[in-house]
Parts: sequence; structure tokens; C-alpha cells
Amino acid sequence: MPPDNLIDGRAIAQEVHAETESRVAALKSAGVEPGLRFVRVGDDPASEVYVGMKERSAAKLGIRSETTVLPVETLQAELLELLEKLNADDGIHGVLVQAPLPRHIDEAKVFSTVSPAKDVDGFHPVNAGKLIIGEGGGFVPCTPGGVHELLIRSGVTIEGAEVVILGRGNIVGKPMAAILCQKAEHANATVTLCHSRSRDIAAHCRRADIVVAAMGVAKFVKADMVKPGATVIDVGVNRIDDPAAGNGYRLIGDVDFAVVQPIAGRITPNPGGVGPMTIAMLMRNTVRAAEQQTGAVSR
Ligand code: GUN
Repeated sequence: MPPDNLIDGRAIAQEVHAETESRVAALKSAGVEPGLRFVRVGDDPASEVYVGMKERSAAKLGIRSETTVLPVETLQAELLELLEKLNADDGIHGVLVQAPLPRHIDEAKVFSTVSPAKDVDGFHPVNAGKLIIGEGGGFVPCTPGGVHELLIRSGVTIEGAEVVILGRGNIVGKPMAAILCQKAEHANATVTLCHSRSRDIAAHCRRADIVVAAMGVAKFVKADMVKPGATVIDVGVNRIDDPAAGNGYRLIGDVDFAVVQPIAGRITPNPGGVGPMTIAMLMRNTVRAAEQQTGAVSR
């Protein structure tokens, strides 16, 4: 078993944070304090935890952040009105509406109301479109952007690689495919996007040099689905009941780590792999949003 095949997401996120911190310092010396606003609707406990982690990370880096928490019964029109106000507020450079939203609110409408210039989540159709056509200057969604950065900084060869992505969601799977298939440095992969209607997912996975698991099924990826030496990235966060745990549940990835780690070339632990990178990319996007909106630092 390769003992040292872990991709340390926490350490790589720290590298990114260090770079972001120096950009924050440059902005501040040009008189700009980067500002990030989170919006949560309702009391989804996971969202509360995630936004709390993002707030703490912003504070550590010197990014001013605030969270607006709206009651679950908030009307879509009220949320859109708030977003228009945030779009017009010069002191706020990034706006993030935490998903999932209550069922009566149309998520796509919400994401497309955030100004593309402040869309640090990269969910606005303009930013999604820029990613697809390979036009720089837009915002890339934080989780697939973080996976890309993990692969690059771990020295994994992406050029020409067979990549299998499990899951076709708008937040991870689809943008991940767009990033890796671009005609660009650290891309040029042959990408297969598998989903719930794919035939013989295991056969696709066994061909892959890189597997990115983001379909939200606990321990889906087993040892017989991974080519020996392949790189395995686990994006999954699945809550499973665990009466022995203090809070009654445990978080489990999409990869059966215990059986896959011995045969993988490189593998992300979970937690400690992709999660910290998502936050690091959000902070980096926020600083870039502030740079672009203020013209305070040319980059
Ligand atoms: N919910 C799960 N992942 C994300 C994310 O990256 N951004 C937002 N806004 N909500 C999420």
C-alpha cells in the first residue's frame, strides 16, 4: 500500500490562502477592503456550518464578511430585491447565496440575479458561459476550481488524461468537465461525465487516470472500479446516521476510502481534501472581484 499517496487539501489550501492574503494586503494599501456578503435563507443546519466556515476563513484573511439570514418563508421577490441592493453596494465585492434554498424559491433565478461581477460562486449564466467557451476573466465555481488546483499543485498530469467525473450537477460535475476539457494548460483531458442514467459506470471508471466522484452516494467508488495508480478525488459529503456520534450522524464521501486508498496512485482524504480548497477558491475569487471592481490592483 502506498503510504504517502494522500493529497493534502488542507496544506494546499494554506498555500492558496497565503497568496490571497498578500493580495488582500495590496488591496488594503490601495485603500480597498475586500467585502463579501453571504445570504442564507432558512435554517438548513449544513448551510449554517458551511457559511460559518467561510466567514471564519474570510476574517483570517482580512476580508470583511457579513451574513444576512432570511426566514424560510421569505418570498423570492424579497430575496431578489435584497440581491439588487447588494449588487449596487460599492463596499460589497462578492455575493454568495448559499444553496440549497427553500423549495418555493427558484435557485436559477436567484443565481442569475447576482451581478456577474460579484458572482464569486461562478453560478451566473454569464460566468458559466465564459467557462464553457474558455473565455478568461469570469469566475469559476469554487469546488471544481479547487479540485483543478489540487490536481495542478499535486503534480498530477491532466494533459491527455482519461478523466471520469461522476455526477452532472451544475455546482461540480458540469463545470469540472468544462475546466478539464479546455484547450489550455493544465487541461486538454479526455473527459467522460457519468450520471445516474449511465450504463456500466464501473467500466468507465476502470479506464480512468483521474476519477472525480461528485454524485452524492456514500462509498460508491469501490476498489474494483479504480485502475491501479489512478488519481481519485472525493467531492462527496453524505450525511449518514450514526447513533454513536455525538450529533447522531457522520459525514461520508463518495469513495470507499479504506479499500480504494491502497490501489490509488493519489487520493484525497475526506474530510481534509476538497473541502478546504472550496473555501480557498472562494476567498481567491472574492479578492479578484475586489481587484476587478476597483481597479485598485492591476492583474
Ligand atoms: N451549496 C453547496 N455547495 C455550494 C457552493 O459552492 N456555493 C453555494 N452558494 N452553495 C452551495
